[in-house]
Amino acid sequence: MKFAAMISFLLFAVFPQVVLADSPDLAPTPPMGWNSWNKFQTRINEQLIHDVAEAMIANGMRDAGYTCINLDDGWSMKKRDDEGNLVGDTKRFSSGMKALGDYLHDHGFKFGIYNCAGTQTCAGYPGTRDHDEQDAKTYASWGVDYLKYDWCHTEGLKAPEAYKKMSDALRATDRPMVFSICEWGGSKPWTWANGVGQLWRTTGDIGPCYDCKGQYTNGWKTLLDQQVGLEKYAGPGHWNDPDMLEVGNGSMTLPESRGHFSLWCILAAPLIAGNDVRHMKDEVHDILTNRDAIAVDQDPLGKQGFRVSKDDGKEIWAKELSGGDWAVGALNTGSESAKLDVDWNKLDFLKDTYTVRDLWTKQDVGDTSKPYTTEVDSHDVAFLRLHPAK
Ligand code: GLA
Repeated sequence: MKFAAMISFLLFAVFPQVVLADSPDLAPTPPMGWNSWNKFQTRINEQLIHDVAEAMIANGMRDAGYTCINLDDGWSMKKRDDEGNLVGDTKRFSSGMKALGDYLHDHGFKFGIYNCAGTQTCAGYPGTRDHDEQDAKTYASWGVDYLKYDWCHTEGLKAPEAYKKMSDALRATDRPMVFSICEWGGSKPWTWANGVGQLWRTTGDIGPCYDCKGQYTNGWKTLLDQQVGLEKYAGPGHWNDPDMLEVGNGSMTLPESRGHFSLWCILAAPLIAGNDVRHMKDEVHDILTNRDAIAVDQDPLGKQGFRVSKDDGKEIWAKELSGGDWAVGALNTGSESAKLDVDWNKLDFLKDTYTVRDLWTKQDVGDTSKPYTTEVDSHDVAFLRLHPAK
């Protein structure tokens, strides 16, 4: 047994909850799953969650790695019970939250839930403020595996303290729960949240578009720009979260969905699908379940990718992978389809000659001994995997 493993084993014998909750095993690679918010907001109920779970089994998403099913805002009653406990909405989740957790576990999923550090959630349901331990115990008793913890109605609170308090409350239960910090980036959680949670939002909310603006949302390109420089803060067990996927939602074209997914994989972002997986186009399904793309996201080295260059109409992004491989994405930022060049000589981290595979067309497209040029749709990404040539 290695020394570190032996220490863990001994600690586990004495303080099981500490080792379980701190274990990088909670999120050794970026979490993957589905969340109700982007498509359904608070229009959620037990039947929907059952149907989503069954669809994700039938369409291969669960087996492709999307193993968490996360209820977002709107699952609870509008008031706590007489003892101050949170209660699932008794009409919309009539079998109860423990039964929902059991259902998800029986179907091979983990059970995710949502709340806020403030007095209320963003949609006006009871928040956790001053109920940290009580709520953590409630979640543990329901079999919750993942808590997304939001930041509405938090007047007077300091984010590092409020999140640490809930993190400690979760650890004090005997149930390992992934802690997803959703503070929108205001207090730079990447500087304080490693060790508090396994992932932290770096931005405000995503909207279902390339670069449009909603009242509280921005398209994925705006959020992508905000990730530049954050790569050094991510690694196994602690991930930057540029928000959930909008693949297949709203007005996004298929190339825009593909570009979004490619870049989220290069960012080692959590891959939390947010579309109606019961009824999606085959092309959307094929994006979400592309195993080669997912393997880039889930690469065990756990390195977040970075922007290599930004030119008129083109950005190059790259991510180091295990085994000496690299992923490279060429994003067409123009409004028309265009021929993009990838000049390998400008990627000074490449030390050798590599074979090149296009992860969307699934074709081997040569090697890095000569520049690569390919047609890329507007807002799409040529997503390439490089492997050292023999
Ligand atoms: C905030 C979060 C979103 C979602 C909503 C729910 O805006 O950032 O991801 O959870 O609250 O009300």
